[in-house]
Amino acid sequence: MAMTSDVGRRDLLSVRRSLRRLALVSCCEIYPCSREYRRHAHLFMPLQVRLGQDVESLESVTWRPGLEANGFFLILGASGSGKTETLKAVGRHILEHGIPVLVLDFHGDVRVPGLSSVLMSSGTDSWVGVNPLEIDSHRAHEVGLRDQYEAVVDIISRTIRLGGQQRSVLLEAVAEAYRCAGMREEAPATWHQPPPTLDWVLSILQHWAEAPERTSQRASIRSCISAVQGAFGHPVFSRPHHLVMDDILTMGMRVDLSKAPVGIRTLVADTLLRKVFRAVALQGETTGEASDLDRFRLFIVIDEVKILSTQKGDVDDPRLILNLLATEARKFGIGLILASQMSSHFGAEVRGNAATWLVLKPMDMEQARRNGREIGVMPELLMELRGHGEGFLRWQGDKVRKIQVHRLSPVTASDAREE
Ligand SMILES: Nc1ncnc2c1ncn2[C@@H]1O[C@H](COP(=O)(O)OP(=O)(O)OP(=O)(O)O)[C@@H](O)[C@H]1O
Ligand SMILES: [Mg+2]
Repeated sequence: MAMTSDVGRRDLLSVRRSLRRLALVSCCEIYPCSREYRRHAHLFMPLQVRLGQDVESLESVTWRPGLEANGFFLILGASGSGKTETLKAVGRHILEHGIPVLVLDFHGDVRVPGLSSVLMSSGTDSWVGVNPLEIDSHRAHEVGLRDQYEAVVDIISRTIRLGGQQRSVLLEAVAEAYRCAGMREEAPATWHQPPPTLDWVLSILQHWAEAPERTSQRASIRSCISAVQGAFGHPVFSRPHHLVMDDILTMGMRVDLSKAPVGIRTLVADTLLRKVFRAVALQGETTGEASDLDRFRLFIVIDEVKILSTQKGDVDDPRLILNLLATEARKFGIGLILASQMSSHFGAEVRGNAATWLVLKPMDMEQARRNGREIGVMPELLMELRGHGEGFLRWQGDKVRKIQVHRLSPVTASDAREE
């Protein structure tokens, strides 16, 4: 976070960035979230996210993730305190810098202007799915197709418990599905074919369950089918059209999960985050030396984190994707911007690793005590907050400021584009 004293220089940088953006958008019709805009992202570095204003000094306050230990930003506050508005503004400013943002929207209100949206449900408006079998890397010299089979089975077996025999039968069926899709280990060019879906894997297993030569495996095959169908039977996991990692990592995406059943919301979010993490991790660690563009590849924005973090009851469960991201994501260039009502909705790994916090108005004294403890602010001071985006910001280890978040102007907010 930077409360830059050399206001003149900062303003000049910001004016330059705005002019470049204006030139791209108005002269060349290149908009944030397009591949072309991403190619020009170097023009918009460093990454300076306008947050709002210091309530006392009236200085403007910007978040500079590149100057922090990491790009992890936690936002806490009661209902109506301004979490969603803050997330939308932060997400939009990051996009304006040409860095992609992935929004997982559980309640359907985190509409970041300019960001494409996809609806995930079984409704007729929803036709895009998440395919656990999408290839994570085309760098055949580093990652073979066999690694891909294992990764798919790993993702599935995080949700359903598979015995040794079930796992090996599933692995075999996944490999067979890739073969049926025309992909061959020794011919990386074939990996660009449309990947198979889970439906294919299930059909193969069903066929094997009837095959006389597989009688000895029949019980494992059948139990494998019912386990996979039970967890991943929802149509979003078997659609021929699915979210493409490369699109997410280039242009960003808002995934609207608000219409899906609760269990499916968390499973889609979990699967997607694991796929994204693997795709990013396979690109290798970021160097982080030259510019924020080398430091940050993607920001993941999640409102109502509680839905994801409390799904298994224990927020500290190391198998939770959020806890994995909190410990591993920084070095691969992933930033996390997470919001919830209480600090207890985040696991210890997430809380311990977050470099930046914004604590907005709490619901009651108990919440004020818990949230205040995280940033070293007295609960009474939190209780005095006016709501609507007023809060205490902690950054650079221990600095704390009272700020008013600036939400997006109605013009920018109405610029929301749905696809
Ligand atoms: N920075 C802001 N400036 C001015 N008004 C704001 C700001 N942030 C929020 N508000 C006002 O407060 C209302 C609630 O904000 P928001 O939806 O972001 O709250 P929330 O914390 O996400 O609540 P919930 O937990 O119920 O989703 C907004 O509709 C808006 O009217
Ligand atoms: Mg909200």
